[in-house]
Amino acid sequence: MSCEKVKCHIFVKESTDDLASDCASYILGALSEALKSRERATVAISGGSTPKPLFARMAKASFDWSRVHVFWVDERCVPPTDDQSNYKLASEAWLAPARIPDTNVHRILGELSPEEAAKRYVDELKRFFDLREGQQPVFDLIHRGIGADAHTASLFPGEPLIADRKGIAAAVWVEKMKSHRVTLLPGVLLAARQTVIEAVGQDKAGPVHSVLEGPIDLFQFPCQIAARDHVAWFLDKAAASKL
Ligand code: 6PG
Repeated sequence: MSCEKVKCHIFVKESTDDLASDCASYILGALSEALKSRERATVAISGGSTPKPLFARMAKASFDWSRVHVFWVDERCVPPTDDQSNYKLASEAWLAPARIPDTNVHRILGELSPEEAAKRYVDELKRFFDLREGQQPVFDLIHRGIGADAHTASLFPGEPLIADRKGIAAAVWVEKMKSHRVTLLPGVLLAARQTVIEAVGQDKAGPVHSVLEGPIDLFQFPCQIAARDHVAWFLDKAAASKL
């Protein structure tokens, strides 16, 4: 099903296995396409629970990762060994089994203070993408999730940084989680060449409907940021049930 009025593609799958397999194929296709015209391909991934089957599929794929560089959309401010760490999730499910070189993995240093972790991440992005003052990184593909409250990355409803279009990444306090996080900012999400948004489960049906078919209100539905152009949604039937 493709959503003409929002110029995006929506793929609805019966099973989470099929969802993970198709999403992985889509991502690998985008990275392969990028490598045809650029020396390195860049992908920024999210965390949470949804991506685990996707990461497992990526790990099993026969793919030359040597020119693929992995970044994060956001990270909890915890050590990389913490079960809450998005890096830990990806490392165990994908990066280590796929033997992606450490030099290709650019994690957010969650063990540092939130401000220091954000600064170091911005510095790493500026270095890697060779950014001049005022420029933002353009990822070949950004992989995002959506929360039951329609948040994406670590941009939760009401977050003032939702209005930011110039910044690269920042530390945020998430009141409902009583925790700090580091997140890419909206301008970087909007600049991505391709975006994939994954959602599974009945609790995502409402926010998916609001984001794709509700009134535009980025502060209420932050996942509406970069949710329509050059975006592929991968949903199970439950998450798509209100479309
Ligand atoms: C995180 C993610 C976040 C996630 C949504 C959905 O750090 O939690 O980056 O943006 O994509 O919260 O999470 P689930 O997949 O666990 O529902």
